[in-house]
Amino acid sequence: MTQMLLILILFSTFSPFCSPFDGARVEIYRIGSKGEVTGAELVRRELQRDRIRLACFSANAAANVRVPVPVHGAVGEYLIDLSIGTPPVTYTGIADTGSDLVWLMCQPCDLCSDFLTPTYNSSESSTFTVPPCDSPLCENLFVENSQASCYLGNCHYDFGYGDIYTQTYTSATGVLATETFTFQSSDPVAVPNIGLGCGNASTMYFFNSSGIVGLGRGNLSLISQLGVGKFSYCLTSFVDTTSASPLFLGSLASLNSSATLSTPFVSNPNPNNTYYYLSLKGISLGSTLVSIPSTAFALKPDGSGGLIIDSGTTLTLLVDEAYQPVTQAIESVVNLPIDDGSDIGYDLCYTLEAGSSPPQMPSMTFHFDGADMDLPAENYMRPIPDLDLWCLAMASSSDVSVFGNFMQQNMHILYDLDNEVLSFLPAQCNTL
Ligand SMILES: *[C@@H]1O[C@H](CO)[C@@H](O)[C@H](O)[C@H]1NC(C)=O
Ligand SMILES: *[C@@H]1O[C@H](CO)[C@@H](O)[C@H](O)[C@H]1NC(C)=O
Ligand SMILES: *[C@@H]1O[C@H](CO)[C@@H](O)[C@H](O)[C@H]1NC(C)=O
Ligand SMILES: *[C@@H]1O[C@H](CO)[C@@H](O)[C@H](O)[C@H]1NC(C)=O
Ligand SMILES: *[C@@H]1O[C@H](CO)[C@@H](O)[C@H](O)[C@H]1NC(C)=O
Ligand SMILES: *[C@@H]1O[C@H](CO)[C@@H](O)[C@H](O)[C@H]1NC(C)=O
Repeated sequence: MTQMLLILILFSTFSPFCSPFDGARVEIYRIGSKGEVTGAELVRRELQRDRIRLACFSANAAANVRVPVPVHGAVGEYLIDLSIGTPPVTYTGIADTGSDLVWLMCQPCDLCSDFLTPTYNSSESSTFTVPPCDSPLCENLFVENSQASCYLGNCHYDFGYGDIYTQTYTSATGVLATETFTFQSSDPVAVPNIGLGCGNASTMYFFNSSGIVGLGRGNLSLISQLGVGKFSYCLTSFVDTTSASPLFLGSLASLNSSATLSTPFVSNPNPNNTYYYLSLKGISLGSTLVSIPSTAFALKPDGSGGLIIDSGTTLTLLVDEAYQPVTQAIESVVNLPIDDGSDIGYDLCYTLEAGSSPPQMPSMTFHFDGADMDLPAENYMRPIPDLDLWCLAMASSSDVSVFGNFMQQNMHILYDLDNEVLSFLPAQCNTL
């Protein structure tokens, strides 16, 4: 409700009108599902991106800056198509619960690397406006992006990050604009004056997307700007390359089942922090509780540590004091030759006999505060058919832990921000 009020205030600054936005369904699909990159190469790129992203989470968690996570070889990703402008044009962006601003590459783009999808041309839209520096939208940008600046009366973002692999500095810059977004509900609903980053330069490397769709907690995220208070998504199986995954916004986001379990979100001590933290108490494999120190997943007073649920990281990343005992538990139940998986960036893989199926594995349970999430082997062990490998979809992290999208397959996950709880229900996502 407070978010709805905030949005009304933001809108009223620019326009006397505010279309009521109740809810919508948007399709999400996985990069790679259109066959651009396949097999082991796909897997390799996913994990390269995970590592860069993790470095950013750790750097930003406690710091007074929030930059969108870097998008570099962005293949382990889910994409959303959004209709933007008047008349509406469809653009594809990366669905990212780890950042806020929705931004697209715009024309003219003097420095754009490999943007393979259309770039947005503001001259072709009658609803493109650029708010002044003293507008509430710009104030929110200054909170999200410490490098934002006021230039010729308008505010500009500058998201920068270091690439831990190439040791280079890369960035995405642009002006903060506003646009009309159109959603398909029972009828199309046009929502005016949504803050939209219009990029003029980026050295980030994208595949099959024109930008990022931020779904984080901050005031500039699509969720906050629509004022919906809740959203849910259900990611289809990684091996399903044809079905789209539904994203429900607002009133359509609901888990109608008595089997739904819920766990509270945990607040980072830094009020500017945009990530969704959960309280994880422990992990079991089958009926055996893995021996993990009780403080392993705790958020520290300085805002570091903790466990984030993220739509944009593939693997589940655990601090080493949890990761090591979990891998030992896996090794104690799998009786296959070990392959170190390093060729494809994994940490622990098993060699399968050519063409054979993986052995039965017990489910893994994540004991969240008040809600045990049972994960079948398909949600934590990844077959790599090209290579006859079967790999643990987890890796070690030095500071923050991340619940990645591989584990979220076929789980309908509701982010209920009005009530500060995350709810979930196992589901066949391709049937919703
Ligand atoms: C993009 O715009 C910024 C101002 O926001 C300007 O400083 C920069 O030079 C522009 N970059 C390119 C490549 O046009
Ligand atoms: C943008 O749209 C305008 C108006 O249709 C057109 O004149 C211009 O060439 C377009 N710019 C680019 C870079 O496509
Ligand atoms: C949050 O962001 C604002 C604006 O950039 C800044 O003044 C404030 O110090 C930040 N708060 C914290 C706790 O970092
Ligand atoms: C997606 O990106 C790949 C390059 O990674 C390119 O070959 C392919 O044509 C793109 N597909 C679409 C639909 O843009
Ligand atoms: C849940 O129930 C509500 C109200 O009956 C309905 O609008 C919504 O579509 C249902 N959601 C799902 C995911 O079935
Ligand atoms: C969001 O906006 C509200 C109202 O302007 C402000 O109080 C709050 O600090 C902002 N939150 C963040 C994280 O910027």
